[in-house]
Amino acid sequence: MYRTHTCGELRIGNAGQKVTLAGWVQRTRKLGGMTFIDLRDRYGITQLVVESDADASLLGTATSLGREYVIQAIGTVVERQSKNSKMPTGDIEIKLDKINILNKSMTPPFTIEDESDGGEDIRAKYRYLDLRRNPLQKALALRHKLAHEIRNYLDAHDFMEIETPYLIKSTPEGARDFVVPSRMNPGEFYALPQSPQTFKQLLMVAGYDRYFQIVRCFRDEDLRADRQPEFTQIDCEMSFVEQDDVLNMFEGMMRTLFKNVIGVDVPDPLPRMSWFDAMDNYGSDKPDVRFGMTIHEITDKVKGKGFSILDEAKYVGAIAVQGGAEYTRKQIDELTEWVKRPQVGAKGLIYIKLNTDGSVKSSIDKFYASEDLKAIGEAVEAKTGDIILIMSGNEKRKVQTMLGVLRIEMGNRLGMRDPKVFAPLWIIDFPLLEWSDEDNRFYAMHHPFTAPKPEHMDLFYSNKKEDLERVCANAYDFVLNGTELGGGSIRIHDSEVQKRMFEVLGIGSEEAEYKFGFIIHAFQYGAPPHGGLAFGFDRVCALFAGKDTIRDFIAFPKNNMGRDVMIDSPSRIDQMQLDELHIDIRKEQ
Ligand code: AMO
Repeated sequence: MYRTHTCGELRIGNAGQKVTLAGWVQRTRKLGGMTFIDLRDRYGITQLVVESDADASLLGTATSLGREYVIQAIGTVVERQSKNSKMPTGDIEIKLDKINILNKSMTPPFTIEDESDGGEDIRAKYRYLDLRRNPLQKALALRHKLAHEIRNYLDAHDFMEIETPYLIKSTPEGARDFVVPSRMNPGEFYALPQSPQTFKQLLMVAGYDRYFQIVRCFRDEDLRADRQPEFTQIDCEMSFVEQDDVLNMFEGMMRTLFKNVIGVDVPDPLPRMSWFDAMDNYGSDKPDVRFGMTIHEITDKVKGKGFSILDEAKYVGAIAVQGGAEYTRKQIDELTEWVKRPQVGAKGLIYIKLNTDGSVKSSIDKFYASEDLKAIGEAVEAKTGDIILIMSGNEKRKVQTMLGVLRIEMGNRLGMRDPKVFAPLWIIDFPLLEWSDEDNRFYAMHHPFTAPKPEHMDLFYSNKKEDLERVCANAYDFVLNGTELGGGSIRIHDSEVQKRMFEVLGIGSEEAEYKFGFIIHAFQYGAPPHGGLAFGFDRVCALFAGKDTIRDFIAFPKNNMGRDVMIDSPSRIDQMQLDELHIDIRKEQ
């Protein structure tokens, strides 16, 4: 037997017991002739001690141990002289009789401790060593626990976990596909699923009325802290449901996860906010509602005072930032430069300070009397001591979005975004369609299988752009602390409505047949009313841990260039393989 106990298990109650442990040498140190060894496994760290009067071979072995050697340690549990209350095993140590070296290790390129001295790149290259560190082990343990609770909840509600294929045809989630060449079908390619969307709908047609899958999805898109090219969804679908049924089922699931995994109570029921309110008040379809600082429209309040920028703007909006009246000129200039960065894209920033002495100072006080400025302050619900930040433009949603980005930045700067506070909510009533000026066509805001709201059917069949822009979808997103954790919709189950959807999206019947023929046909064989959603599982893990990057919650993630630097992938393949796949690589120009 390699071990009788783990390195996280022994306590004072075990004193006197003969034990065998196995694990990795975290560190050795000598103190007054004694050798101390910290032995680590995924359960914890236990201190081993070799006394100065131990036999020579044991002493020799103990001093020869390097970091990360794998050893088996045999000895007796004893009470420690100097206890370490920070470690669960800190009351005891193991007085060793014998050490067996199971394997040696090269000196690791960075320290395997909570705070490692290794940079991100080196840790990514040696991911298997990084994964030995406690923070990463905790992250993966959280992921495991969440997956377990999710399966329990869904199983208890009659959901069946069904696997769907990875080698498929393009799915309509709007990102680029990863493609896989087919050796047996020269010139033809599979696409890896961006989600199992079409398959789960086919499962509804097949009568599996409650489906779920914790499933890998693949999207070739630009990466960010909360995006990976392969990521995991908790993908779900239900038949014979309306929007409320889906929302209730899955907020129940999230509530259970909050409670059982991190001991957090969230409101019952969760708040629901329309997409329009989210955009108007927060400038985002994934509002962080942990703090106020909401956006107020002040278009009518600023007109007619001779300030052409605001006179001509179709939309003027503002936020009030608590305590901002104290900002210096330099701080305001810095903020103005910040909003002008391409990531925000504002032309400038107007401010009004409501000073604590009752005076008002503004970048536009040449045009506006102090009463006018105070009236704006009231409209924005600003208090004495606040600064009001104003943006304007001709496109309301664009200005709101910029104010939304500024709001989040100010929330960060003022420490209003505590990761240990959780404010989940549903965003509902999304527009069905999004017009693209660039391509002169509509795109589905969610995906082309999302159903229009029944009360908007007339608008949906209108040929006027402005009517179609007003059609709302039976779609919903689950938002937590400013991140979209999940989203879904009630689907179209009527093939006529589906045809109309393709028509509105400018997808001709031939193209529709080529891309989605299988699902259109299936819908002619008794498709039940159905709907569902998918959560981004990696994001759920990260946010539950109070983090915003998902990489540490994935055992083997990709870097920002989509590379796995540990296995050095993607990489070239040899000519023979290319020939088999009938692929010629174009020579670089
Ligand atoms: P959607 O495209 O909104 O919907 O994806 C669902 C959730 O998946 C997560 N997500 C990602 N997580 C990490 N990296 C990525 N690249 C990434 N892309 C998306 C997000 C998102 O909310 N089939 C529909 C769902 C449905 O309608 O049932 C779908 O895939 O958290």
